[in-house]
Amino acid sequence: MPKSSKGTKKNVATPSPDIKIKINGTWHNFELERDITPTMTLSYLLREKLGYTGLKVSCDEGGCGACTVIMDGKSVLSCMILAVETNGHEILTIEGLAKDDPIVEAFAEQCEPGYGTALQCGICTPGFVMSTRALLDENPVPTMAEVKEALSGHICRCGCYAGIAQAVTHASEKIAKKGEAS
Ligand code: FES
Ligand code: FES
Repeated sequence: MPKSSKGTKKNVATPSPDIKIKINGTWHNFELERDITPTMTLSYLLREKLGYTGLKVSCDEGGCGACTVIMDGKSVLSCMILAVETNGHEILTIEGLAKDDPIVEAFAEQCEPGYGTALQCGICTPGFVMSTRALLDENPVPTMAEVKEALSGHICRCGCYAGIAQAVTHASEKIAKKGEAS
């Protein structure tokens, strides 16, 4: 999609003057023009206006997955969505995950010596974590082919793909164990 300036996209629809977005479990009210411009992207709103810097804006054109958040249960690229389009919707960023989220734990453990690492610089990690969250919420025991398919829109410039796939498998096992214990 073409961009008009940094953090904005050329617009489409006529937005409503009052915008309500549920972010990490809390509804936020915004006023059009005062808080959100019609061309502001969701990634810009989350990072620059609200301080949710977990998501990264790397390519800013839908090609890398670093800006992934979950919207109504599905992983989405926040650099490709206008903030006004999320009116009435529910957004989850990595900051909204529990501290002991099994996916976060699995990615963290996958960086310890003895494992193939799931992260080096970490720029891509929040995006991978959020797509993994959406995948495992829908399909708690995915096959490797399903993992690859779900994460195929993500780029890791450090080349940690094998470790990332392992982390997803470990996260799935952790979630299953948690389910057995509860
Ligand atoms: S920053 Fe959104 S896909 Fe790359
Ligand atoms: S860990 Fe560096 S880009 Fe993935």
